[in-house]
Amino acid sequence: MIKNYTAKLNFTALIAFVILASLLVSCSSNEKKKIPSISKTYQDYFPIGVAVSSYLLHDSATADFVKRQFNSITPENEMKPENLQPEEGKFTWKRADRIANFAANNGMKLRGHCLVWHQQTPDWFFMDGNDTASAELVFKRMKDHIYAVVNHFKGKAYCWDVVNEAISDDSTKFLREESPWLKICGPSFIDSAFVYAHQADPSAKLFYNDYNVVRPEKAARVYRLLKELKSRGVPVDGVGIQAHWSLYEPSAEELRDVIDKFKSLGLDVQFTELDVSVFKWEKNFREIRPSDNLAYTDSLANVLADKYSELFSIFREYHESITGVTFWSVSDRTTWLNYYPVRGRQNYPMLFDTLLKPKKAFWDVVEFNKENQ
Ligand code: XIL
Repeated sequence: MIKNYTAKLNFTALIAFVILASLLVSCSSNEKKKIPSISKTYQDYFPIGVAVSSYLLHDSATADFVKRQFNSITPENEMKPENLQPEEGKFTWKRADRIANFAANNGMKLRGHCLVWHQQTPDWFFMDGNDTASAELVFKRMKDHIYAVVNHFKGKAYCWDVVNEAISDDSTKFLREESPWLKICGPSFIDSAFVYAHQADPSAKLFYNDYNVVRPEKAARVYRLLKELKSRGVPVDGVGIQAHWSLYEPSAEELRDVIDKFKSLGLDVQFTELDVSVFKWEKNFREIRPSDNLAYTDSLANVLADKYSELFSIFREYHESITGVTFWSVSDRTTWLNYYPVRGRQNYPMLFDTLLKPKKAFWDVVEFNKENQ
């Protein structure tokens, strides 16, 4: 009798153990499966994009990750003039094509970035032998470049950052005076770039793209530029607010104000290069200093999560005016902020860590429904 009872007890314990073990196993595999796709989570709001380098897509695990998480792609460098036309008339499409085909094959949108910029543009654009080229020659090269590039990606790139960063860093000035485009061609280079891009692909959405646009004084100058372009009938469709931000900016009020401002001009608003540095914004390259505090603590991770959560709650509130939000890297491993502006300083600005694992900020951005529960 006692024997029977013990046997029964053992049997019950065994069953309980099996149920518990299988529960644990299924929990941990569910844990993996349960990482939601941010772009699917936001499908009723706006596309969620990411900037990639072509080499990243060679790694199939990363490529799969990108496909699962994002529904729009921007080439981080591959479509810039120095990469597409390093020498006059010699176009090198291979790497940009790899990204464009990846986007097309996986049903993702493709943002073209960028056509006219004072950086990452080879000197030959502005030279005639040893002399500075004439305005006429530079306008012709601009037109040839824009026609060739926009034509090449026609049907693949749905939009272009046509002019990048034309506003001066000096708040007392309007346009960036040291730009060779401005120096040689004068301010009308901006109008021409949009006109050429529109001629090359009338269906592409054309953007003016810049950084620090949420700072009120810069917002005012970008607003002035876009208002003037629109009043002259220049074919500009939207403003790209780069969104290289930090834990310290923008404030909720600055962000709302800037969206309202550009919405009032009837422009599409996109956040084109989102990253949230855990360090204060700096402009110039420098080395690490002994006084730099490099630590990424749990409390910083929480502040980052709060910042992201605030930003995305405002994006959702304004989703009718926003046609895209693009992260400027997949993860903390590949972000350009690991070498700019402080060389070799690991930064932590993205939603995924250096091992592509979701951070607290990721969960706060995708689990917004819980806010109301
Ligand atoms: C950056 C890239 O992320 C870096 O890899 C590259 O070394 C420099 O350019 N504004 C822009 C982007 O419009 O093209 C820049 O991208 C970041 C600032």
